Amino acid sequence: MAARGVRRVGNPLALALLLLVNLALTFAYAPLSDASLRTIPSGGSDFDIHNGALLSPILIPRVPGTPGSAKVQEHFVSFFRDQLPLWTVEWHNSTSTTPATGDTLVPFSNLIFRRDPPWAKTGDVSRLTLVAHYDSLYRPEGFIGATDSAAPCAVLMHVARSVDVALSRKWEAEGHGGDELEDVEETGVQIVFLDGEEAWVSWTETDSIYGARALAESWASSPHETNSVYPNPLSSISLFLLLDLLGDANPRVPSYFQNTHWAYQHLSDVEGRMRKLGLLETKPRMQFLPEKDKNANQFTRGFIGDDHVPFLQRGVDILHVIPTPFPSFWHTMDDDAEHLDLPTVRDWGKIVTAFVAEWMELDREMALGLKGREDEGKDEL
Ligand SMILES: *[C@@H]1O[C@H](CO)[C@@H](O)[C@H](O)[C@H]1NC(C)=O
Ligand SMILES: [Zn+2]
Repeated sequence: MAARGVRRVGNPLALALLLLVNLALTFAYAPLSDASLRTIPSGGSDFDIHNGALLSPILIPRVPGTPGSAKVQEHFVSFFRDQLPLWTVEWHNSTSTTPATGDTLVPFSNLIFRRDPPWAKTGDVSRLTLVAHYDSLYRPEGFIGATDSAAPCAVLMHVARSVDVALSRKWEAEGHGGDELEDVEETGVQIVFLDGEEAWVSWTETDSIYGARALAESWASSPHETNSVYPNPLSSISLFLLLDLLGDANPRVPSYFQNTHWAYQHLSDVEGRMRKLGLLETKPRMQFLPEKDKNANQFTRGFIGDDHVPFLQRGVDILHVIPTPFPSFWHTMDDDAEHLDLPTVRDWGKIVTAFVAEWMELDREMALGLKGREDEGKDEL
């Protein structure tokens, strides 16, 4: 909507001013109150590694194109279909040869689950984009990849269900925006489960991130309807928040990108606030996100190769939530269910949920969390 307003103005100074005003109007990251932070659920036994509803079905080998991969896809699809029916599902399929499989075309299937404001046109919505890969390493055979990235996928499922009711409340209350909301940016959220992140032989530009490369290319070259605020689905990504290698105890996640350090600071802030309020289970000596006060001159140009790279190369803002150092058992058979630290996994679920609720400006709706529906009418008054 901002872009449409801008086009009506010819004078460059007025245009700059209008842009400023629009920036102020359109995006207001809104910290949650303590009361809202307290309503954020931990997921509890749903993260159980043996029979928990979220995580246990992912703790199997899930090499692209194998039955394990299909089972995990079905787990995601049935979870959203049965529990979060307002999220749309979109498959993004591609094929590629790999250095391990000769001439055979391996299928890669990314899955995208999305909630936009119900009245909004697809091309007018900017989307907070939460990403993890669900495939597992081809070798060693039987590799599970509990932190890489089964646990991050389960965390994202938990995040989706933890903000779902609040999103409905917010959008029901707003109804169709009409005139008074014309200058407010439409904000949606999507969860992207990527396939084929792992290299089949060894990490190169062509043997890695198969799903992400195909998706970035496809989204950059699928134009939205003419006159949309965003020209294509890639440009609709407001932030690409990638979770990887999470679930080991005492992670240390640095801030990798100066241009999204502000978003890192929000994530770190919300972690710090939840710790002070006693809402997290872990008691690490350092925060998971310790670099809130990193100075501009401490950022380097280096980055870790991962699913964000084809998006980064196309100018998308990235928040890479991956520990340095990696878990000690990275890419070994020990990256299995038993090596997960479940309090850490659940804390990640809470921290990311809080960040998403802040991004989506859900404070009021989250605070209502545990109240019955009849109480909501009173709060409207
Ligand atoms: C993509 O692949 C999946 C799994 O192989 C299949 O179930 C689905 O129907 C395909 N979707 C599209 C749109 O091709
Ligand atoms: Zn890996």
